[in-house]
Amino acid sequence: MKLNIAVLPGDGIGPEVTLQAIKALKAIAVEFNHQFNFKSAPVGAIAIDGTGDPLPEQTLDLCKESDAILFGAIGDPKYDNDPSAKVRPEQGLLRLRKELGLFANIRPVKAYNTLLDKSPLKKEIIQGTDISIYRELTGGIYFGKKKLNKEGTTASDLCEYHQEEIERIAHLAFKAAQNRSKKVTLVDKANVLESSRLWRRVVTELATEYSDVSLEFLFVDNAAMQLILNPKQFDVILTENMFGDILSDEASVIGGSIGLLASASIGGKIGLFEPIHGSFPEGKDKGIANPIASILSAAMLLEHFGLTAEAKRITDAVDKSLELSITTPDLNSENKHITTTNVGDFIEDYILNPEDNNVNFTNIHLGQSTII
Ligand code: IPM
Ligand code: MN
Repeated sequence: MKLNIAVLPGDGIGPEVTLQAIKALKAIAVEFNHQFNFKSAPVGAIAIDGTGDPLPEQTLDLCKESDAILFGAIGDPKYDNDPSAKVRPEQGLLRLRKELGLFANIRPVKAYNTLLDKSPLKKEIIQGTDISIYRELTGGIYFGKKKLNKEGTTASDLCEYHQEEIERIAHLAFKAAQNRSKKVTLVDKANVLESSRLWRRVVTELATEYSDVSLEFLFVDNAAMQLILNPKQFDVILTENMFGDILSDEASVIGGSIGLLASASIGGKIGLFEPIHGSFPEGKDKGIANPIASILSAAMLLEHFGLTAEAKRITDAVDKSLELSITTPDLNSENKHITTTNVGDFIEDYILNPEDNNVNFTNIHLGQSTII
């Protein structure tokens, strides 16, 4: 298969983790005889520095001409601490999502057996967790009208949803559940919010088309608690934009590190694949950023194009790296010398030589990957 992939590394640790994902994809191309072409473009704070625009037209054009987008991370503390900033890095990502119609953000969360003791949650609670979060991505409070009065003393953000926006992601969530454990949990705040009551009505009606899937409802405050009290009760979580943003960060605790959570944003012609973690500016260029979320996002990209065996080769490589503790310090405080690049090298090597039992793990532990 020939794929043109736009690479938007973005800010902070974005470039270094994205580089490891590209290495994995290049190794897949070699092994499975595909042609993947990569073209990079700036987005976020780095794009503001260069052009004044967090999503320069050239970057958007490149994305529109591509088959898929591999996204790094976005954000910079100089904007976080300046509430009056007129342009913000995040606007680049939000505009991209909107322009490309990426209304469904899929975030898988699972407890790896090899990492059960890395989570602050008890092993018995998290073992066996396998959740797929379907977060609505182009509506709600993120995109509603924003107001600030002249005096700067009153502000509002409108949370608005239309029936069609709810239906299109709900269909995807139910279809996903049909191939999983056949349960959808709609998370909302229908006891307070009108928009949530609309979600409940629309999703309840639509559920009749999926009689093999059970539908449950949870208020978001309760869901936040249930997620860490009994995460195994969930299969597919369907929710609006901001609740999904918050709950997916919370859910990352189950896996042991936010550095493991990948995501796919789909709905339009072109899909975007990105780790859910932020730009972690304190970690930039220190070799401590976990590249696995980005590498798993590349696996989701392959899966999106029906390249199931290829995606599995990546997830197998990731499983192996976790099993052997070839991981960055977020998961491996004893082995601080294993860097972002070491993890990426190991995964690349494993993709190229999955059967090779001679992979020299000792050297990899020393940061000297020897397998070409
Ligand atoms: C995410 C991020 C973004 C969001 C930010 C960077 C705008 O937190 O993808 O979860 O809030 O959607
Ligand atoms: Mn987020």
